[in-house]
Amino acid sequence: MAAVDLTQLTPKEFGQFQKLIFELSGIQVPENKIMLLSNRIRRRLKATGVIDFESYLKLLHAKEGRSELEGFLDAVTTNETSFFRTEKHFEWLQTDFVSELCQQAKLGQRTKSVRIWSAACSSGEEPYTIAMCLAENRARLAGWKAEIHGTDISEQSMEKARQGVFQSRSIEGIPENLLNKYFVRQPDTDSWQAKPSLTEMITVFRHNLMEPSSKGAYDCIFLRNVLIYFSRESKQVVIDHLVRSLAIGGYLVVGPSEGIFDMLGMLEKRSTFLYQKASRAVRS
Ligand SMILES: C[S@@+](CC[C@H](N)C(=O)[O-])C[C@H]1O[C@@H](n2cnc3c(N)ncnc32)[C@H](O)[C@@H]1O
Repeated sequence: MAAVDLTQLTPKEFGQFQKLIFELSGIQVPENKIMLLSNRIRRRLKATGVIDFESYLKLLHAKEGRSELEGFLDAVTTNETSFFRTEKHFEWLQTDFVSELCQQAKLGQRTKSVRIWSAACSSGEEPYTIAMCLAENRARLAGWKAEIHGTDISEQSMEKARQGVFQSRSIEGIPENLLNKYFVRQPDTDSWQAKPSLTEMITVFRHNLMEPSSKGAYDCIFLRNVLIYFSRESKQVVIDHLVRSLAIGGYLVVGPSEGIFDMLGMLEKRSTFLYQKASRAVRS
């Protein structure tokens, strides 16, 4: 029997995997990523013991392959992230955003509560950075209820986010004073555990951005480094869902590579990365 060639997906297989990934996530894998996708799927063949790409595709479409969809999504998504990624977003959050919240509470325009969503949080660096920005304001936010939701479709990444344990390579982006204040080095390891002052604000759960959220209104949503490979139609679906999830006056923080700056006409532009929902924003 001839040995199975697993070097690269055939164009037909590539098209089939491309379609499945698009249906599951909205991601449109570009043609030039065929080698990258082949390598990532080959790792799943090894993990599952499936002999070739075609059989793996069959498994993913079969009832008994449902649980493998998780492993598949873990393998084909790009989960790279870091603490304080694009620092100016967090400078705004820690200063202007918190000042505005406090001012509104003082004027009786809001209760002392704030809800922030890290949409596509990967392994948690983004929601934990948000939590540090709020924790640094603990005197001004004394008595406030702060909720940070981190969501993703990669179970493996979310599990890391839930644990709140970060390796030394990952914590490089955290200034030393904040690292010592909010993390504890785990004995005999190279990893750091986030303290309850951060973890108690954060809840991590699965949410596909292609679907509407049922979690109510957020004061701020971070949408960063996720939509780059989404088709234009998928980007529009995500934007519409997120705008509906924003509170009136709430902010959308947009990453530099989303490719959606010309699609946010229903929001008020406040700066290069910051968009605010006015009352007339909801598209029917
Ligand atoms: C590169 S990471 C970005 C993490 C973080 N937002 C940041 O800027 O560092 C992109 C994340 O988007 C997630 N993702 C991709 N498609 C998604 C979808 N349809 N719904 C939710 N998350 C998705 C991936 O699993 C991955 O963890």
